[in-house]
Amino acid sequence: MITIIGSGKVGGDAALFSALKRLDDEILLLDVVDGLPQGEAMDINHMLSEQGIDVDVKGSNNFADMEGSKIVVVVAGSGRKPGMTRMDLLKINAKVVKSVVENVKKYANDSMLVPVTNPLDPMAYVAYKVSGFERNRVFGMGGMLDLSRFRQFIHEATGHSRDSIRALVIGEHGENMVPLPRFSSVSGIPLTSFLSKEKQDELVQNTKQVAAKVIELKGATVHAPGNAISAILESIVRDRKQVIPVTTYLDGEYGHSDVSIGIPAVIGKQGIEKIIELDLNEEEKQSFDAGIKNVREAISQMEI
Ligand code: LAC
Repeated sequence: MITIIGSGKVGGDAALFSALKRLDDEILLLDVVDGLPQGEAMDINHMLSEQGIDVDVKGSNNFADMEGSKIVVVVAGSGRKPGMTRMDLLKINAKVVKSVVENVKKYANDSMLVPVTNPLDPMAYVAYKVSGFERNRVFGMGGMLDLSRFRQFIHEATGHSRDSIRALVIGEHGENMVPLPRFSSVSGIPLTSFLSKEKQDELVQNTKQVAAKVIELKGATVHAPGNAISAILESIVRDRKQVIPVTTYLDGEYGHSDVSIGIPAVIGKQGIEKIIELDLNEEEKQSFDAGIKNVREAISQMEI
């Protein structure tokens, strides 16, 4: 069973995409709001029935129902309002994630834990510390979402098929994220070999700023995060061993320890199966380290 804790727009979309991909026979939506997960589950099941897909989506307000889950996604908490940064949610969401993860530890102690709640990197740190799980079982969804946006901007700039485009974004899922043109390509041809530095920088800035624009226009980001969550779950469930930027606890990698941030990793049935250390240039390392500094500052403000 896959459990998604937090049955708002993103949690509901993650359940929908995961069901459409048939990632498990049973998907549980949990939330503290009476009726919300139950209603979301019913709505998705009605869609699945028309599609003839035998995945049962259930909704519950009882954390004990997550018993035996293979994977638990934590989306619970407040979302950004227009004009807010992800870090503005630190204090309120730290309490929520701590309480939720204590329940995960109690009822689904053998699960893979996938934090999504913002600010993602500090929340992934809280999830790792509070759960006490091995590092390979705790990895947050942030970079997968950022790279989906970077891919879109590359598609718009080049006109090439999205299917030919590969992109990589590491670092903080926030103001200091690091889209990497050197490690992004169209059919294996690095962006750096055919886009000017000015154009590369424009695509990087667009990637950093677009989530806030979507929130300003429609109030929340929903489908891109929901899909990115299901893509990570698919790599676990189908043991695809995809290289995905996930937020995990560093223990010396990239020269840092005791902090959580986005880095490329091989994701399979064991969760993080290998962490990939890139040879970053000075500019890339500066952005990455700025994210580390920001996340460390946030961690210092939390009581874990
Ligand atoms: C976003 C939120 C999920 O980037 O952080 O859309």
